[in-house]
Amino acid sequence: MKLDIDWERLVTELDALGAISQEAPPVVTRVVFTEADVRGREFVKKLCREAGLIIREDAVGNTFARWAGQNPEFEPVGTGSHIDAIPNAGRFDGTVGVLGGLEAIRALAHAGYRPRRSIELIIFTSEEPTRFGIGCLGSRLLSGLLDPAAASQYKDRDGVTLDAARSAAGFDGALSSVRLPPGYYSAFVEMHIEQGAILEQRDVPLGVVTAIAAPASLKITIEGEGGHAGAVLLPDRHDAFLAAAEIALAVEASARSSGSRDTVGTVGVCDVFPGAVNSIPSRVRMEVDVRDVDEARRDSVLRKIEQVCEDVTRRRGVQARVELVNADPPGRCAPRVVDTLAKSCETHGLRFERMISRAYHDSLFMSRIAPTAMLFIPCRGGVSHRPDEYASPESIAQGTLVLAETLASLAEQ
Ligand code: GLV
Ligand code: MN
Ligand code: MN
Repeated sequence: MKLDIDWERLVTELDALGAISQEAPPVVTRVVFTEADVRGREFVKKLCREAGLIIREDAVGNTFARWAGQNPEFEPVGTGSHIDAIPNAGRFDGTVGVLGGLEAIRALAHAGYRPRRSIELIIFTSEEPTRFGIGCLGSRLLSGLLDPAAASQYKDRDGVTLDAARSAAGFDGALSSVRLPPGYYSAFVEMHIEQGAILEQRDVPLGVVTAIAAPASLKITIEGEGGHAGAVLLPDRHDAFLAAAEIALAVEASARSSGSRDTVGTVGVCDVFPGAVNSIPSRVRMEVDVRDVDEARRDSVLRKIEQVCEDVTRRRGVQARVELVNADPPGRCAPRVVDTLAKSCETHGLRFERMISRAYHDSLFMSRIAPTAMLFIPCRGGVSHRPDEYASPESIAQGTLVLAETLASLAEQ
């Protein structure tokens, strides 16, 4: 089959989606269920409809755009990613897998191909944890790995519940209805930018992902004692931020002491209350992200951080509440899908590297309910989660070509 990827159209669409943002370009911020997220969804859905795909949305806003196969009763092949973006992000994280997935389907249709199995493009809701503090919200619910009753009560920083936020964005119905029946997909494949620099450094055009590192996150709330920054002397203070600062340094030290470069720890959120220069911080809310390819090693870092919280709070006379938001096992990709991706690279004469994803993706949860693998394309300097994130049209076109070939193979298996 001769496949023509219309990379100019695809790059134009990526740019147009990138311009739908809560901030001025080149900054992309598209937090779930904000007006920008809803507009981004409308933009993608319109393109899907124009391509003849049939759209269904579930109660949390996961969106499925189906290209009906010759045997609609067979389990479909899934592909897709997310379009929500963290604050101060770039244009390619997630969107390449969504719009690239759409372009792959268009290229297959244009070539006159008709799949045996249906092919379904998925736009997952809230892969990013920005608003509700937990990543992969949509795919966790789809895979049945998140309790819908607990999820509906998640609150954002303004106290808005997930139920209220999704309803305001037009998504109603019970969250328990989101879970897919077992065996729903015959296979799932996600294309994504690498978000690291291995492919670029080794000058390899594509990565085939064999496993996804295990993510975990904590919410830590520290309550100290506020007061006047001039009048209260240092020995009399119970400064919540100073306790937080010690804990933050301990996150780094605990990750560093694991004995492996694969262990990483980050404090990406630190809200100080009341946030006035002349007021002693009385409360701090931190969010901590810890990951490793080795789950046991990751868990031992979590335990160290919890121990440090106890020690620091006792010494400083403050209180800390540590909440484990998630501690997920690593994802293993399915050899059949990995091999299909590898074969598709070979078919098109494109070199590839088998690799581990250090970032998490919706594929982490799809891998629990469907044979899953991922395709990585390089991004400049390995930069991601920044406005200067960049993937070249050539890489996007090569990835989309291999994705199209892979979807066609999987649809015949
Ligand atoms: C996904 O965005 C991640 O943080 O790995
Ligand atoms: Mn991301
Ligand atoms: Mn992503």
